[in-house]
Amino acid sequence: MITYESAEDLSLKIRHLQDKSLKVSFVPTMGGLHEGHLALMKLAQQKSDVVVVSIFVNPTQFGQNEDLNKYPRTLEKDISLLETLDIDILFTPSVEEIYPSNDLESYELGFLDTILCAKTRPGHFNGVAQVVNRLFDIVHPDIAVFGEKDYQQLMIINLINKNRKDDIKVISHEIIRERDGLAMSTRNQYLSFDDRENAKKIYQNLLGIKTDFLRGIDLDSSIKKAKDNLSQFSKLDYLEARNSKDLTDIDNKTDEIILLCATYLGETRLIDNLIFRRKNV
Ligand code: PAJ
Repeated sequence: MITYESAEDLSLKIRHLQDKSLKVSFVPTMGGLHEGHLALMKLAQQKSDVVVVSIFVNPTQFGQNEDLNKYPRTLEKDISLLETLDIDILFTPSVEEIYPSNDLESYELGFLDTILCAKTRPGHFNGVAQVVNRLFDIVHPDIAVFGEKDYQQLMIINLINKNRKDDIKVISHEIIRERDGLAMSTRNQYLSFDDRENAKKIYQNLLGIKTDFLRGIDLDSSIKKAKDNLSQFSKLDYLEARNSKDLTDIDNKTDEIILLCATYLGETRLIDNLIFRRKNV
């Protein structure tokens, strides 16, 4: 694995590889790698000849009172995981390398930046849009891989990608979970023993809503029941059902529904989601 800290050197290397007709895929991360990240990388390996992974804890997507300073930075461990996977290229830029001019660009993200996580984390998706655009400018991959765990982020990346002139194919990977169902997340390591025990109930409650719905039970009432359950051990931010295609409200014709949830266990904010079809088999 070759590691680059310089954006210019990395760009040159990738241009060189693409000139030789090699297909390059890209998996951006903030490090603190776990099996969820690795699954994205394995998918990238299947789809391309060369895989580039970035590790960059992007300051512009963290709010004032969020965990930028304590966000896990575990570069050595991350590097050994990347090596076991045989990743080709790692990009570990400094903040100055990514933001030489210190400007915070503003993006028009529309409706997607008014709902769900955007309400509680104002500016977050603008920071994500900024860093992903910058990383795409540097890497110019043929393919970029993102996880469905951050579903609203994935929708926003699809939107910014549509507004770009290059032809990057964004693909996604389903959520990777712990054995008890908790969605893997770098932030899970913040959880106390009790909170970690309770955290598995997030997915259990999403599954409960799905099961109720497919049995013909009214969605609003099972969402309300799940909200009550989650509120017993966490401070619920939101639990909503939306159209998985574009995150608009659902109606009788919506055939693929997504349940999305964010909740605080102590200081730790966890998100999860579950997609299902109206007439599931
Ligand atoms: P990070 O949280 O490190 O996640 C990197 C990628 O891994 C994202 O695409 C995320 O959706 C995916 N991912 C995380 N946990 C997952 C899981 N359990 N199953 C499947 N995929 C999972 O998301 C970010 O970083 C940043 O916002 C970033 C896009 C890198 C921009 O800074």
